[in-house]
Amino acid sequence: METDTKQTISLMTSSPEQTQAVGRLLGAHARTGDVFLLSGDLGAGKTCLTQGILWGLGGDEYARSPTFVLICEYAARLTLYHMDLYRLDSIEEVIDLGLDDYFLGDGVCVVEWAEKGSDAFIGECLTVRIESTGDQTRTLTFSADTNRYHTIMNDLEKQFGGASSLEATTPGNDAPDNGGTEGEA
Ligand SMILES: Nc1ncnc2c1ncn2[C@@H]1O[C@H](COP(=O)(O)OP(=O)(O)O)[C@@H](O)[C@H]1O
Ligand SMILES: [Mg+2]
Repeated sequence: METDTKQTISLMTSSPEQTQAVGRLLGAHARTGDVFLLSGDLGAGKTCLTQGILWGLGGDEYARSPTFVLICEYAARLTLYHMDLYRLDSIEEVIDLGLDDYFLGDGVCVVEWAEKGSDAFIGECLTVRIESTGDQTRTLTFSADTNRYHTIMNDLEKQFGGASSLEATTPGNDAPDNGGTEGEA
């Protein structure tokens, strides 16, 4: 069963393409009900990471910050619900959105500016904090309490822990093998 040990890992990227490659791995691993909570300043790279997540899910669109619409839906192996809480001012506004319906649904949720609603999210989630450390460099810090996400984090570390292993990615390029594991084990 799941454990509740908090685990944290950090990765560094040195281009938007590398951040997308990290996202692509998250998307390739994603299962029904996964929730990725992204935080970090404007321009940190939350949308950039989400682009990779969508491509990793097999989608071929270019995700953009849903700042004005709050939620965008993308068709992929699993539906991606891409949310952005930037314009919300209070936790009540976040709660009023009824995001639980999405979190408990069949898709995968990615939330930008998740720090604005942290008290409203109570389920299992993977949090990703992105910090800008230079023009092209970012530190991505992943934390989670459950084995489900620790598995992904271990794989991230295996693939991207070494500075040299990041690859450039573009939509449609090198589509991940979904292996028929949609929403399962
Ligand atoms: N290593 C990197 N990872 C992600 N984005 C980067 C990186 N280096 C530079 N950038 C640039 O930073 C910006 C990130 O923008 P965006 O993903 O929209 O940020 P956010 O959604 O967090 O506001 C883009 O212009 C991107 O080209
Ligand atoms: Mg954004």
